[in-house]
Amino acid sequence: PPAPPLFNVSLDAAPELRWLPVLQHFDLDFLRSAMAHILGDKVPKWVHAVMRVAMGELEGSLPQPYADEIRGMCDALGFRLADCILINLAYESTAFCTSIVAQDSKGHIYHGRNLDYPFGDFLRKMTVDVQFLKNGQVAFTGTTFIGYVGLWTGQSPYKFTISGDERDKGWWWENAIAAFFQRHSPISWLIRTTLSESENFEAAVDKLAKTPLIADVYYIVGGMSPREGVVITRNRRGPADIWPLDPLNGAWFRVETNYDHWKPAPARDDRRTPAIKALNATGQANLSLEALFQVLSVFPVYNNFTVYTTVMSAANPDKYMTRVRNLG
Ligand SMILES: *[C@@H]1O[C@H](CO)[C@@H](O)[C@H](O)[C@H]1NC(C)=O
Ligand SMILES: *[C@@H]1O[C@H](CO)[C@@H](O)[C@H](O)[C@H]1NC(C)=O
Ligand SMILES: *[C@@H]1O[C@H](CO)[C@@H](O)[C@H](O)[C@H]1NC(C)=O
Ligand SMILES: *[C@@H]1O[C@H](CO)[C@@H](O)[C@H](O)[C@H]1NC(C)=O
Repeated sequence: PPAPPLFNVSLDAAPELRWLPVLQHFDLDFLRSAMAHILGDKVPKWVHAVMRVAMGELEGSLPQPYADEIRGMCDALGFRLADCILINLAYESTAFCTSIVAQDSKGHIYHGRNLDYPFGDFLRKMTVDVQFLKNGQVAFTGTTFIGYVGLWTGQSPYKFTISGDERDKGWWWENAIAAFFQRHSPISWLIRTTLSESENFEAAVDKLAKTPLIADVYYIVGGMSPREGVVITRNRRGPADIWPLDPLNGAWFRVETNYDHWKPAPARDDRRTPAIKALNATGQANLSLEALFQVLSVFPVYNNFTVYTTVMSAANPDKYMTRVRNLG
């Protein structure tokens, strides 16, 4: 499978301007139709109405740099800011995923994820790897969809890696919009903020566990040292559960899909058991980024909805690898 295009986005440039060089590489008409499709298909009509009315009041207080980045791209595409914010929120609502964090016999930490999204045909063509530069150096790396300023997958080099998996408890839009108006963070914006600001694994886990969010989620985090791997089950207001690696007691990997780990996976969508079987078959001694990619390629962990697979290891930042799946 092909790698997505790789772009640099400079955080030293003004937020409104920093994505424009990336946009130039895309067919703007294609992006407009993809975004219009997402807006029409994924966002309930009442949410449009509420957002357009609320925008005047919200505009000055939206979290930065996200709001200005969205505004810059939105202007270039000729969309209203309210619509672009909703498109950014829409991607948060319907992703199915598998994330794995694991430790090999030598204590190295590996992290991989599949991002699955129904109707992902647009998204496959919008998937990009982005290196965010500060002072001309790569500060952190992530995978996203063009137009979407948050990250569901990312790496802070020599510090930690993060992925997010959806945890849907129902009434998504009602709860998310209410929480957004209360200044809670979108899930993917917190991943990016953490990659940008947190100094180490422990600080990242703390921030991801405690910062108020617009929706529930699973955050999976990998670090640099043995035992630095965890699945954080989030409620909107705080942590519901923290589930670390426990390699001394045989738990050398943690698999998270879209269900609480302490409950059985539903039979109609059990991607967890096949992933565990594949990891068992690999064996801790044989774990590597390549082996993890193979695990993430086993049906139904890998399936028709899989948009991309990323494998990464904070200790080896150059090995960050994304592949776009099911691309025609
Ligand atoms: C991105 O920036 C890095 C660091 O300045 C540089 O080494 C690299 O060549 C740039 N890559 C692209 C694709 O522009
Ligand atoms: C994986 O291996 C562990 C340890 O041997 C075992 O307890 C577990 O049942 C295995 N799981 C699957 C799904 O094969
Ligand atoms: C690692 O892979 C080798 C073959 O590549 C295999 O013989 C061995 O059993 C594997 N180790 C484990 C622990 O599964
Ligand atoms: C996946 O897509 C292929 C090709 O379109 C189709 O033949 C297959 O039935 C699909 N599988 C599932 C499980 O939906």
